[in-house]
Amino acid sequence: MSGAQASFGTDALNGAKLAVEELNAGGGVLGHPVKLMVKDTQSRTDETEAVVAELTDSDKAAVLIGEIATDRSLVAAPLAQARGVPMITPASTSEKVTAVGDGIFRVCYTDAFQAGVMAKFARSIDVQKAAILSDASTPYSAGLAESFRKEFSALGGTIVAEESYRTGDKDFAAQLQAIKAQSPEIIFLPSYYAEAALIIQEARKQGIDAPFLGTDGWDSPEFLKVGGGAVDNSYFCSHFASETTSEAVKRFVGAYAAKFGNAPPPLAALTYDAVMLAADALKRAGSTDPAGLRQALAATADFPGVTGGITFDADRNPRKPGIVIRVDEGKFTYLETVDP
Ligand code: PHE
Repeated sequence: MSGAQASFGTDALNGAKLAVEELNAGGGVLGHPVKLMVKDTQSRTDETEAVVAELTDSDKAAVLIGEIATDRSLVAAPLAQARGVPMITPASTSEKVTAVGDGIFRVCYTDAFQAGVMAKFARSIDVQKAAILSDASTPYSAGLAESFRKEFSALGGTIVAEESYRTGDKDFAAQLQAIKAQSPEIIFLPSYYAEAALIIQEARKQGIDAPFLGTDGWDSPEFLKVGGGAVDNSYFCSHFASETTSEAVKRFVGAYAAKFGNAPPPLAALTYDAVMLAADALKRAGSTDPAGLRQALAATADFPGVTGGITFDADRNPRKPGIVIRVDEGKFTYLETVDP
């Protein structure tokens, strides 16, 4: 809820609060009220271990919901797995997270999928030459760069430049110059909102006007606030569009807006689904026994999430649609839904 990706945690917490409130209004789970215990990693990998230890060893959580960012989930997952406490990440997309063990689940799609959505999108608007600019110091960004390279090339496109930076860098001039020299038609920039907005601003100053293509890490109002007009004419892959027309989603959007005063951001929707799925699995398991809960989670089929149906494959990943969002005139606009 604080630090570099504070916006993600804040939305996620609101989604969890709404889910717990609704569960308890309906009598709780297995005859008990659900208690939400909240700890802040401060967007830091080096705080994550202490947070997991407190929630599991001291608070005796039956299930962990989190973390949001891949890099922190990669710290949390082995600790949760070793303690036998099932963990459901609402939003960590790297394949590596659920690969940690049979107790680690996710309710979102994976990075190979979202990189494929953006590669297909680029080819659908006739892009032949793409560049990639990624953060080599985070598994999230580095993994996405690799997946996009593969997918875009497999679809007949050419990667004409590939550059990287490291978290905390402030100067991207050299990388952007190298990219500009190859005249790509789009630039794939898998990173989080604050950094992405700064990089795109810098690119516009250097006279690069090719559209940028991004990933779910851009998905925060902060991207628009920091980026201003510079981030117009770009596209990214999201998890949730509150404009969808299904009755269940409309009900969720209405309940969220009534409680928090705004439409639910994707992280609120994903985390709402993660908590509701945990409750559903607890009911199916009949107790909080970790082994039973893990089995019930693994057996999840057609769970009706507000972000889409959830059925786990053998690697505890669901197949969910990707949503392409266009950034223009200072706002996010729904463009299309890409099914897996
Ligand atoms: N997918 C991102 C990660 O794995 C987290 C994220 C999800 C950010 C959804 C925004 C929205 O790090």
